Amino acid sequence: MTNKEKFRPVYHHTPAYGWMNDPNGMFYKDGVYHLYFQYNPYGSMWGNMHWGHSTSTDLTHWNYEGVALAPDAWGAIFSGSCVVDKENTAGFGKDAVIAFYTSAKPSPWGDVQSQSMAYSLDNGKTFTKYEHNPILTSTERDFRDPKVFWYAPGKHWVMMLAVGQHMEIYSSVNLKEWKKESEFGAMQGAHGGVWECPDLVEVKVEGTSQKKWVLICNLNPGGPFGGSAAQYFVGSFDGKEFVNESPTQTKWLDWGKDNYATVTWSNAPEGRCIALGWMSNWQYANNIPTLQYRSANTIARDLTLYRSGEELYLKSTPSAEIKKARTDKVSVPSFRVSGPYEVKSLLPSNEGAYEIEMTLNNAGASKITFSLLNDNGEKVTMYYDVLRKQFAMDRSESGEVSFSKDFPALTVAPVADTKGDIRLRLFVDRSSVEAFGEDGKFAMTNLVFPSAPYNRMVFDSGTGKFTVKSLTVYKLQ
Ligand code: FRU
Repeated sequence: MTNKEKFRPVYHHTPAYGWMNDPNGMFYKDGVYHLYFQYNPYGSMWGNMHWGHSTSTDLTHWNYEGVALAPDAWGAIFSGSCVVDKENTAGFGKDAVIAFYTSAKPSPWGDVQSQSMAYSLDNGKTFTKYEHNPILTSTERDFRDPKVFWYAPGKHWVMMLAVGQHMEIYSSVNLKEWKKESEFGAMQGAHGGVWECPDLVEVKVEGTSQKKWVLICNLNPGGPFGGSAAQYFVGSFDGKEFVNESPTQTKWLDWGKDNYATVTWSNAPEGRCIALGWMSNWQYANNIPTLQYRSANTIARDLTLYRSGEELYLKSTPSAEIKKARTDKVSVPSFRVSGPYEVKSLLPSNEGAYEIEMTLNNAGASKITFSLLNDNGEKVTMYYDVLRKQFAMDRSESGEVSFSKDFPALTVAPVADTKGDIRLRLFVDRSSVEAFGEDGKFAMTNLVFPSAPYNRMVFDSGTGKFTVKSLTVYKLQ
């Protein structure tokens, strides 16, 4: 590891050089996961937006395939989606991969945004732009990020678009001509900023044979801890209109500061709903202290719905494929915590890329605290506040934090239960910590920039005691 590259993640997708933001056009076909991304190959700050392209067979190890879409007379290539046209509804060919994206054309009054399409006859490697682009125009200033999918019961395509602070739903039978069906969003959810990168997916409800529609809505700013974040709505969809079942609730997909522009894979196998986010925040994304490149994606997460009381919530479970990246394993024998307790070393050869899986048992503690530390006095402190029923992560002393006033932060997630056994998985990858509680009932994603890998843990309890029943560290490769 060169010092220059000390922040580059080991098992998260990053561009080799240049700038990346939103994941785009994700689709699965013939055993391969395709991931496109907002990409500036000419610099490590936002601009000159292209679609970069990477592929993977296991959602963890990625190969860069080159630039798939470059700016043209209609402007830069902003975010969007891909579909596999199995029935050749557009006439480009059976199984053509069709990309939908926003063309953003600079003008003295700001970007003029319209929707365009391109098709690929070589499984997404190269694209031909549609000769009659753009396919949808508007006078709206923020009019972007088309997400297209097939609505089987109505035998038609659906396009979700983010427009200002609402979503618009369009339909089509040939992917070229679109009809506006409805709008969604007035008086619903968070409106602290512009709505971006929509997705609408059918998600399994755990423990039932039911599925429900989930509308993922990224917004910037207006996230729970400032800047950009992803909210979602659970409800029903008839091919034309989405109805939110809990109009008075705002639901967050992730409780950290660094999970944005989350969307799901189209055509995923076995009915899975697999999501990926951009692991950064518009508050400081252009200033993070990496060299040569900027930004990584989160790890892939399988989404399911679970019931808590009257409400349905999304569970984000790390996609099972990540287990294949596990190599060395260290198991720490169980121990009891009634004051500071140090685990002196996590991994013998630690490159800062690992997973910690633990089960804690609360025996009357008021606070369950644990920190990841390095030898330079830098740390990430996490705790369960038993009375408030919260999980929190504090990165204010995690390493380099001075590049933005918005970076040092404490992020907090609600947890259903802090009694008895508490299960947590932490994914640490040099410059990020992703926490998943109870298989993903809460997820919290935060960037960190330590001067050396964290390789120790200190546990502490407030009043009362808890037990660390199991603590396993897996090196990930
Ligand atoms: C979200 C976003 C999208 C847009 C893209 C431009 O992060 O602002 O709405 O298409 O980034 O790069």
